[in-house]
Amino acid sequence: MLASRVLGTGSVLPERIMRNTDFEGVVETSDEWIRQRTGIEQRHIAGEGETTVSLGTEAARRALAASGLVPTDIDLIILATSTPDNTFPASAVQIQERLGITTGFAFDVQAVCSGFVYALTTADLYIRGGMARRVLVIGAETFSRLLDWNDRTTCVLFGDGAGALVLEGFEAEEGAERPGILVSKLRSDGRHREKLYVDGGPSSTGTVGKLRMEGREVFKHAVGMITDVIEDSFAATGLGAGDIDWFVPHQANRRIIDASARKLGISPEKVVVTVDRHGNTSAASIPLALDTAVRDGRVKRGDLVLLEAMGGGFTWGAVLVRW
Ligand code: UT7
Repeated sequence: MLASRVLGTGSVLPERIMRNTDFEGVVETSDEWIRQRTGIEQRHIAGEGETTVSLGTEAARRALAASGLVPTDIDLIILATSTPDNTFPASAVQIQERLGITTGFAFDVQAVCSGFVYALTTADLYIRGGMARRVLVIGAETFSRLLDWNDRTTCVLFGDGAGALVLEGFEAEEGAERPGILVSKLRSDGRHREKLYVDGGPSSTGTVGKLRMEGREVFKHAVGMITDVIEDSFAATGLGAGDIDWFVPHQANRRIIDASARKLGISPEKVVVTVDRHGNTSAASIPLALDTAVRDGRVKRGDLVLLEAMGGGFTWGAVLVRW
């Protein structure tokens, strides 16, 4: 059967770092509150000329280099983002152009913080369906440009960045010991729209809008939704928490990450955490965390890696992948 495996990863962060103390005196907050409630210590903020397309392109270049490929080896680009450079064309097509690729096709996927899990699942299906062989899956965001910088309940939480990986199709044996994506479980439920949304858009207001969130309400649902799709993934593969080598969750809040790992019975030393340095980078958070753990030598060939995310919509999902 056809399956997809990971060839390499890459990521990039904007140069400018904003520390918690930089918010003190600007909005009514403190380094202590932000650390205690979220685990965030700093985040990177895009500067002039840095956009979702420029960050996504650089992350893609680094993932290609790590994979030993050149851009023209790629026949599909899927970009997960909620902060495209333009309403259209898709930022994925602009990244395709910057990489010098004029063959194949590219499109954006929009599932907010779950975007990377959705994009990875979509890429896997294109590969298994035989429509693409080598796919660049990118998560790139510039959430700093959607923030209301006077709203202390949201502006301290988010950061900018991009991560990417290359998937390749191969003839695989059945079973959970093989390399590659083993299972994906995706969910959404639009009844939760008001809890996390952007109050503008081309068809409603004709403006870009600003991010609005009832953080406590999102928090209340997060752990249950995350652990549900992970348990569904375990049931589908016969794998369990004890088989996981690395848990690479969406990086929104340290308390959500810790509570999810605890509920699943995954020990803390197997959890990859970058929220302290990156903040919440939405669809970029998983590939940024993955690339960090690949490059520092934690994630190795043969390891079982569990990815999960939950965010606006609500959308949520999990992917199990053997490296
Ligand atoms: O990635 C997409 C998914 N998003 C998430 O997963 C985010 C989920 N939610 C969260 O991470 C947390 O709910 C927050 C970090 C957003 C908030 O933490 P919390 O422990 O749920 O705090 P809270 O919203 O219950 O607020 C507690 C207090 C409030 O004051 P009162 O009403 O108790 O007087 C807030 O007004 O903290 C206040 N507060 C702040 N204080 C200082 C809210 N933001 C701040 C701030 N600095 N930045």
